[in-house]
Amino acid sequence: MNVYLDNAATTRIDPRVLKAMMPYLSEKYGNASSIHALGQDNNLILEQTRAAIAGLLKAETSGLLFTSGASEANNYILRGIMSANKAKGKHLVVSAIEHPSVLQTARELSRAGYELDIAPVDADGRVDLKALKKIVREDTALVSVMAVNNEIGTIQDLEAIAQIAHAKGAYFHSDIVQAIPYLRLDLKKMGIDACSLSAHKFYGPKGIGASYVRPGIKINNLISGGEQENGRRAGTYNLAGIVGMGTALELAYKERSVYLKDVKLLRDYLWKSLKKEIPEIKLNGGLKYRSANNLNIRFGRIEGEAILMDLSLRGIYVSTGSACSAHNLKSSSVLSAIGLADYDLNCNIRFTLGRFNNKKEIDYTVKNLKKTVARLRAFSPVK
Ligand SMILES: Cc1ncc(COP(=O)(O)O)c(C=O)c1O
Repeated sequence: MNVYLDNAATTRIDPRVLKAMMPYLSEKYGNASSIHALGQDNNLILEQTRAAIAGLLKAETSGLLFTSGASEANNYILRGIMSANKAKGKHLVVSAIEHPSVLQTARELSRAGYELDIAPVDADGRVDLKALKKIVREDTALVSVMAVNNEIGTIQDLEAIAQIAHAKGAYFHSDIVQAIPYLRLDLKKMGIDACSLSAHKFYGPKGIGASYVRPGIKINNLISGGEQENGRRAGTYNLAGIVGMGTALELAYKERSVYLKDVKLLRDYLWKSLKKEIPEIKLNGGLKYRSANNLNIRFGRIEGEAILMDLSLRGIYVSTGSACSAHNLKSSSVLSAIGLADYDLNCNIRFTLGRFNNKKEIDYTVKNLKKTVARLRAFSPVK
């Protein structure tokens, strides 16, 4: 049996999404910027999809720009807004648990002359709002806090954070990659001025995402050299990907109850079974503000990498550390930010469930994990 429990790294494409994409990979191959009919027919589809995505997010259509994914969108928004709004100030604030495409970009900006402050989080990974209030200043141009954390699933109070940013006239950006399909976001109502998303996290294709920047906000280009996106991003449109992302987002919104109910039931069942079957385990972060699909568990006395490899041999796929880029065996800065001791930083496994999982798979996982843990602990030098 193969069990895929790494849905925060990527999801399997929904067959309905693939079907919607196929014509744009075959007979409808025209470049959406071409003036002839094959191009213009596709341009219509492109703009219809843009409007549909913006409509679902309750955003203004003209602010939505297609990118190669969320890493590009995060880079574009941080670099583009900071460099275009120097008159407001050169101060940038990001949370301590941001994805590297935000955190490393912010650090690079600080090396290039911008001022950076990192907002601390509590033991659940939630931004400390009191501390944030003190950090945001009159010269803060941008505050960036993700909606849902990719490692521990923490859901932030985005409305409160937006208010704190806006009180000082700063823009608020949120990386909403892991929030879809689990949260219903209304960008306008929540005060989100800019956001980034990525289709492959919600059963769409890889290599396509979007950035949203509320019209009227000044932003500089990241990729130049073409007139696509009204001159805001160069590069031929990935229409098949765009159509796939539109279809996936529509399904995510329409079928949200599946994620909220069925995935959460399975996730809770996994946690209950693990607690019953395996001693010396702890949940990293709390359950209250956690995305319905996530468990991040600390296994006393054994290394996460060893557990991951053993499970992989048994056909069970999970992740450890900063799981979007798990080649990097550095310990997790997210777990460090929520207060884990150094000796606990390498004993963790992230399980992220999805709509294609079932109870049989969870039983198989618990049964095998029990064996894996017992075997590894028998060799552990830490008693
Ligand atoms: C929270 C978060 N932001 C950004 C990204 C990067 O997305 P992409 O793979 O589309 O570049 C990921 C995952 O890799 C993520 O989990």
